[in-house]
Amino acid sequence: MKEESILTPWEVKGNVDYGRLVREFGISPMGKLPGAFGKDILFRRGKVFAHRDFLRILDAMRHRKKFVMMTGLMPTGKFHIGHAVLARQFTLYQELGAKLYIAVADVEAYAAREQTLAESRSNAFDQYILNYIALGLKPQDCEIYFQSDRSGDGKKAGAYYRLQNLLSRHATFNEFRAVYGEISPGKMLSGLLQAADMLHPQLPEFEGPVPVVVPVGIDQDPHIRLARDLASRIKEVSLLQLSSTYHFFVPGLGGGKMSSSDPTSFIALTDDEKTVKNKVNKYAFSGGRDTVEQHRKLGGVPEVDVAYQWLTFFEEDDNRLQRVYDDYKSGKMLSGELKQVLIDKLNAFLSEHQKRREKARGQVEKFVARD
Ligand code: TRP
Repeated sequence: MKEESILTPWEVKGNVDYGRLVREFGISPMGKLPGAFGKDILFRRGKVFAHRDFLRILDAMRHRKKFVMMTGLMPTGKFHIGHAVLARQFTLYQELGAKLYIAVADVEAYAAREQTLAESRSNAFDQYILNYIALGLKPQDCEIYFQSDRSGDGKKAGAYYRLQNLLSRHATFNEFRAVYGEISPGKMLSGLLQAADMLHPQLPEFEGPVPVVVPVGIDQDPHIRLARDLASRIKEVSLLQLSSTYHFFVPGLGGGKMSSSDPTSFIALTDDEKTVKNKVNKYAFSGGRDTVEQHRKLGGVPEVDVAYQWLTFFEEDDNRLQRVYDDYKSGKMLSGELKQVLIDKLNAFLSEHQKRREKARGQVEKFVARD
């Protein structure tokens, strides 16, 4: 029987059929990109696999015009390796000259995850923002804000919440239902607030009309569709249409979805060496064969092997990655050896990262006011 598949912004279950999503939702496969993107493995390896209206961003880059990267995070649970992948796009866009807007979705976490604003606030600082800084995010041209507290500047804050309110007239209940399946008033307001997140950088109080790209996982596309529809209907503000890109999720260790609520599915950026070793050895789904003899004879299956899949997100060196692929596929490399390659890679990264994370503590205030 086919596993049931659910895909809303609040739930991802079963296997995600990416091909179908591209066909049904009309997003375009990411074609070949200019050189600047090639040095990033997410773009080079097709991890960022689809887009809407990305040409507008390429055009702005080509003509050295201003553009914005806007995205948001749900500040629940621990910051894990999957979040680090999105963060890499932040620093890439920063290098490419974008201004960054990053929303901490504490209102959404309140409405959809029953997490208090205070919990969201401390978790956002302690888990997300510290790690972003350690991963290389720069304070210049970067605004991080909380949905519940947009700005100390009343004009700016007012403009953001005003937009959310004005957008409400242009959405219908059926549309929300079509987008979300099940909805509640809280989710509806969160949807409108997320649309305001994506569209408000273009208000006169912020940047004015400007190309905005929103990099997200495919589960967030319903939000993008809604925001784009609203943008095309509201006449009071002039807005350029949103661009978006879609990336593959880093799979969970067991092969399903990586989820903050299941510690056996992820490596947190605070995990120590031993934890990394134990988790990878114990939980990483293996594409190896049952016995060494069989493995030597038939070879492993890198396509389903989670350790290998993770390396495709973390091993920067294409040649080294190819060697691992060849050796594993031919049976020369055993499953335990492949896992060890990943363990070494992750631990080398994490030990550096954890030092940078400590240094980042003094910098948080440069990004967002702490109280
Ligand atoms: N809904 C997003 C999540 O669950 C968080 C989010 C809030 C967001 N506002 C956004 C994402 C704006 C992209 C753009 O992770």
